[in-house]
Formats: sequence, structure tokens, C-alpha cells
Amino acid sequence: MEVRVFPDAYGAALYTATLVETTITQLSSPVLGLATGGTMIPVYQHLVQFHRRGLRFEHVTTINLDEYVGLEPTDRHSYHAFMREHLFDHVDLSLDCRYIPSGAACDLTAACRAYDEILQAHPIDLQLLGIGVNGHIGFNEPADHLKPHTHVVELTEDTIRQNARFFDAEERVPTRAITMGLQSILFAKRIVLLAVGASKAQAVREAITGDIRTTVPASLLQLHPQVTFVLDEAAAQQLR
Ligand code: F6R
Repeated sequence: MEVRVFPDAYGAALYTATLVETTITQLSSPVLGLATGGTMIPVYQHLVQFHRRGLRFEHVTTINLDEYVGLEPTDRHSYHAFMREHLFDHVDLSLDCRYIPSGAACDLTAACRAYDEILQAHPIDLQLLGIGVNGHIGFNEPADHLKPHTHVVELTEDTIRQNARFFDAEERVPTRAITMGLQSILFAKRIVLLAVGASKAQAVREAITGDIRTTVPASLLQLHPQVTFVLDEAAAQQLR
């Protein structure tokens, strides 16, 4: 495991974006696993800037980690809308090569199975991750058991409270989501987890230095041979 600490969130996001850029330029048909959330917004801003300076996405496939259950892709709170707003609408990524779970599907079990088939057909070269204050990755919430494959998850009160900032009111935050499972995440060839801010410090410490346990899903990343934690000083403060 590699841990890179930057003086501020800007430097951490820029470094993360350059890792993505390197993957895009080095591979002939790169597959990126993407995350949403506030931490990722500056990463996507940098990637859009890189695109304006010549970085091409036409040969890239993207696979997002998760989506809320019950939100149509057109809903402004959906992760479909997030990705369009922050990345997809600004780069030359083909419409056919972007995948996000179908949270609005009538048959969610079939939607999860279909997503696993997409993951099997497109092994992820670089998986971007954020981390929840409770140690979740994707929407794999702390629990006694974790699921390997794509599944529907009940969001914890912690996560609902954290994500309320993206909605008009906490009551509007969906209580369920579809998420890639732990095995699918760990199957990525390389994983880059970006965490910034003091609110993430405890989860980061437990993920990096704690025992591997399902109550801190990010701790399972210790099992991966090529994972990089990219942190700002605030998120790294409990590592000393
Ligand atoms: C989002 C996702 C989540 C977020 C995490 C951190 O696709 O998978 O695990 O990465 O909740 O969110 P922010 O960046 O908003 O703190």
C-alpha cells in the first residue's frame, strides 16, 4: 500500500487526476471505475481542464460505483446527473461507454446482475474511491457481512446525514442504493482512494492501520496489491 500526503485538498485532487490521466494515456482502451461525492468534484474539474488541453476520452470506458435506488437518471440528485454535470458533458467520452447502475429499474435484482456482467466484460484498470466517515467504500456500509457483487444496500443514518448536503432536506435522501460489491472493487488492477478533510481522519486511520474488518469496509483495501491512499494533511492527521 502506498500513502501520499499533500499539504492541501487541491494538491491531493490534482495528483489523483494525474494518475487518471496517466492511465488514460498509457492504455489503448482503459477502463476507469469512478466515484461520485464532493471529494471527486475537483478531480473531475482537473480532468476537464486536461481534456481542454488535449486529453482524449474517446477510447475510455467508465463504470461508476453506485446509484441511489428510486432516482431516474434525469433526476438532478442522481449520480447519473452528477457525472453528466461534473465530467461527461465536458469530455469526448462515448455515450455507449459509460456505465452507472440503474437505480430506477423495476427489477433491481436483474439490474444488479446486468451490472456484474458489465463488470466482467470490462475489467477495471483504475478504480477511484472516496471514503465515508464511517469507512464505507462505494455504498458498502459497515456490517457483519459484506457482499462480493453488485447489490442493493440500505444506507446507514450516518451516510444519509452526510449526503443530505446534496439534497433539499434529509428526508429527501433515498434510503437505498445499488452499489458494486467488495469483490468487484478489489478486482480492479489499481485502486486510488482520495480522502480530504478532518472528518475523514478516523476512517482513514482505521482503513490503513486498523485490523481488516467488515465494520470498516475500506480496511479490506489492505488486501489489494496496488492501492494508493491520496490524502491531504487533515485526512492524514491521525496517521502520525
Ligand atoms: C460515491 C461513493 C461514496 C463516496 C463517499 C465520500 O460514489 O462511492 O463512497 O465516495 O461517501 O463522499 P464525499 O466525497 O461526498 O465525502
